[in-house]
Amino acid sequence: MDIKVTYLPRLDSAVGTGADANEDHPMRKVTRQVAFDPGGWTSDRAQKVAKLFDELAGTWKDKDFNSRILPVVDAMARGGIKPGGIGIELGCGTGAYSSTLSDYFDALLCIDISFEMLANSAQSSGFRIRGDGATLPVRDRTVDGLFCINTLLFPAEVDRILTENGYLVWVSSSGNQTPIYLSPAEVFAALERKFTGVSSEAGPGTWTVFRRR
Ligand SMILES: C[S@@+](CC[C@H](N)C(=O)[O-])C[C@H]1O[C@@H](n2cnc3c(N)ncnc32)[C@H](O)[C@@H]1O
Repeated sequence: MDIKVTYLPRLDSAVGTGADANEDHPMRKVTRQVAFDPGGWTSDRAQKVAKLFDELAGTWKDKDFNSRILPVVDAMARGGIKPGGIGIELGCGTGAYSSTLSDYFDALLCIDISFEMLANSAQSSGFRIRGDGATLPVRDRTVDGLFCINTLLFPAEVDRILTENGYLVWVSSSGNQTPIYLSPAEVFAALERKFTGVSSEAGPGTWTVFRRR
């Protein structure tokens, strides 16, 4: 199969994850259905996902963001990302990466479907918006960078909102152990092979930057 993802060696000495232990995780199934089936994201599913993350929001800030941010920082350093323009951080959660990301953009929209995640956010940068990644509140071809960090992929929206030179940054903080996870090859396929990727690992996570072919 013609997979258009280039893999860069990792720069740190962390050991990558082993075999995928979360293949049967319920969120993994949702992630695949949403990415590959245009009818996979229903209003019922949206409500259930929002409720799930509303319930998790109170303790989300306790996660180890010092390590979770490593693949984000590496993607920005080695993914060929040029600072500036309009960015979206989809599924921003409690905003742990938002101030780092907002330094790269003229304006950053931090969007999440969970009200409680946004309410538990300590972030002071970026615009916090309650919204759904399936119907992003922006016009066609107006976004320069879309960050999806451990969140769902909505391929039609990626293609619709990104500018001609725009990019998607796909980050999995725990690599293939991440519950909401697609491999770089799966993202390539879900984007209907219209985008090519550069990918690597940092700390416990993986990242891929996709651009239009
Ligand atoms: C696993 S958490 C990751 C949060 C944050 N990015 C992090 O890494 O800490 C997934 C986040 O995506 C949000 N999310 C899930 N589906 C979404 C959708 N359709 N639109 C916007 N946000 C969504 C959830 O509410 C949750 O905050």
